[in-house]
Parts: sequence; structure tokens; C-alpha cells
Amino acid sequence: MTFMELAQNRFSERHFDPRPVEDEKLLRILEAGRIAPTACNLQPQRVYVIKSSAAMEKAKATGASLCGCPVALLVCYDSRAVWRNPGDRCYEDYNAGEQDASIVAASMMFEAEELGVHSLWIRGFDSRDVIEAFDLPENHVPVMMLALGYPGEKSHPAHLHAKRKPMEETVREL
Ligand SMILES: Cc1cc2nc3c(=O)[nH]c(=O)nc-3n(C[C@H](O)[C@H](O)[C@H](O)COP(=O)(O)O)c2cc1C
Repeated sequence: MTFMELAQNRFSERHFDPRPVEDEKLLRILEAGRIAPTACNLQPQRVYVIKSSAAMEKAKATGASLCGCPVALLVCYDSRAVWRNPGDRCYEDYNAGEQDASIVAASMMFEAEELGVHSLWIRGFDSRDVIEAFDLPENHVPVMMLALGYPGEKSHPAHLHAKRKPMEETVREL
């Protein structure tokens, strides 16, 4: 499968089957995140695996829409390890943590797809709730959760999946 086919096939899964994701596949997904590029190669991502029922209950209590997934990855960045650009005049104290965490998460999302594991990118939570639920160090900033698993019987792309703006609206030559 080409990357373009992979990208076209992927959609947000909101009906997971409870069947667990094999450890070998989970490791490959995590490996795709490990080798992702980061600003100055500082690798500030901190990835937490949410798999045990105790961890899953804590994750659910944050209100994140986990959709019955058997495993989720909480992607954070270490605010003490990020590349910073305090000179950027559009930001108060710019750091690349969200970008680093996002490219790590995207790499894992597409590797999952390659392995037939569906995913859901989740940001609908309060970061403070997540820090408290998992007793995270204060310097580990939650960015997103990646729900992972096999499609359930009701699996289907949501209506928003098909709604992409035409390129003329989002791309412009300077
Ligand atoms: C930054 C970001 C945050 C998102 N947060 C959530 C979320 O909290 N809950 C959810 O169900 N989907 C969430 N999504 C999934 C988007 O709603 C979804 O990607 C979009 O509607 C396009 O649909 P598709 O992924 O099926 O192509 C998020 C996606 C991104 C990139």
C-alpha cells in the first residue's frame, strides 16, 4: 500500500472492538513514534501506554472519548526538554512541544493504519484532569490521546470524514 492509499483509507474510529492489540503491533506503533523527527532532535515526547483496566478507568474519568478502545497512548511533551524560541514575536515564549508531540502521534497513527489497527486522535479533555488522573510530573504536558484498536461491527467513517475543503481554500502560492 502506498502512503497516499494509507492516508486515504484512514478515518477516525469511534466504534472499537474490545479485542486487544497484539504487543508486537503496539511495539511497532511506538517505534514509529520513537523515530519521528523533533525540533533539534531533542525528542521531548513522553508517551504513556494506557492498557490496564485501572489506567483505562482513569482515562475515561477525564471525559476523553475513548470509544471502547482496548489501548490508548497519551502523548505528552517534557517542557524541560523542548526546543524554545523566546525571540518569536508572535508568541510569549514559543516552544515546539506541541509540534513534536503531534508528529510523533501522527507517525504512530499512520503506522497503526498500516498494521490494520484503527485509531482516534483525542484532544477533548482538560489537561489538568489528565495530569491529576495519572499523577504526571508537572513538566509533562499532555497534548493528545491516540485511541487504538480493531474496528467494531458498527465501524464507519463519520460524516465529517468526507468533508475536506478544496485545495484552493487552504493552499496558496506566495
Ligand atoms: C487535534 C485534533 C483533535 C481531535 N480531537 C478529537 C476528540 O477529542 N474527539 C473525537 O471524537 N475526535 C477528535 N478528533 C478527530 C477529528 O474530529 C477528525 O479527525 C475529523 O473530524 C476528520 O475526520 P476523519 O479523521 O475521520 O478523517 C481530533 C482530531 C485532531 C486532529
